[in-house]
Amino acid sequence: MSKSASSSRMPRAKGMDMASYWAPSECSRQVKRLVLSPLNRKIVEEFIAILGMREKFEKYEVSCPNKLLMYGPPGTGKTLTAFHVASRLELPLILVRLDSIIHSHLGETGSNIRKVFDYARAAPCVLFLDEFDAIARMRDNNDEVKEMSRVVNTLLQCLDEFNGNSLFMAATNLETELDHAVWRRFDTKIAYGMPDERTRAEYLHSLIGEFEREQEVVSAAHELMKECSYAEMEQIVTKAKRKAIMLDQPLMQEHLTEAFIEYVPGSAYARG
Ligand SMILES: Nc1ncnc2c1ncn2[C@@H]1O[C@H](COP(=O)(O)OP(=O)(O)O)[C@@H](O)[C@H]1O
Ligand SMILES: [Mg+2]
Repeated sequence: MSKSASSSRMPRAKGMDMASYWAPSECSRQVKRLVLSPLNRKIVEEFIAILGMREKFEKYEVSCPNKLLMYGPPGTGKTLTAFHVASRLELPLILVRLDSIIHSHLGETGSNIRKVFDYARAAPCVLFLDEFDAIARMRDNNDEVKEMSRVVNTLLQCLDEFNGNSLFMAATNLETELDHAVWRRFDTKIAYGMPDERTRAEYLHSLIGEFEREQEVVSAAHELMKECSYAEMEQIVTKAKRKAIMLDQPLMQEHLTEAFIEYVPGSAYARG
């Protein structure tokens, strides 16, 4: 996701130069396939279902969730989930570029955070902050304590005031560094992990199941990519497919092995 999502061809959100704007239809195009563990699938589906029946919740005076935190290793589907949620709820995704929010003058950073939240409040959308730890770090773990704590305080205020029909989604690979108060503000949290046997099989099947290939390629891929994230699997399989297409061959085990070695130069395969 990071490749295309950060692409500069994306239009800036109107009146907001710190984020890119993704219409719901563009979001659904980004999410060809999303493999989630059964638990995560359930959390995401429930989140979407609840927001699809707001009136019912209003009737019972039970609030709807609107803050979702995703954490876990890179390449496991956090950004993809943000696109998925926006697409399913038919909301635009406002993808904030963190480097544009963070300013050497931290006071400026705080006011940028406010601007972004104000923008999201003005019209229903999914506001998405990737690498969230960069602004939500614990208030007591660095030298710029005082200044940084002001940024976190601003963030906390924005989170508390965040209501209406927009959603806030954030992702981080460094969840242990998040400020505890920030952590508590999220009504929904999802832990992402590396693929297990089952999700790896499901993902590989969706990547190469339909592709012209030799029979044993799927099981070979399953074995070969045991340590890989989804993003890595996707890259390696794409590389392997390119080789097959170039050579006018069905996808074969050797294409995969070659692609793997090229992608992970230090691997046992490469050395052996
Ligand atoms: N759970 C997943 N299901 C399907 N594809 C995935 C998944 N995780 C990662 N990918 C693939 O890897 C790319 C990068 O994933 P991304 O969602 O950006 O990971 P993260 O945000 O967790 O670092 C995606 O565009 C997709 O091609
Ligand atoms: Mg990401």
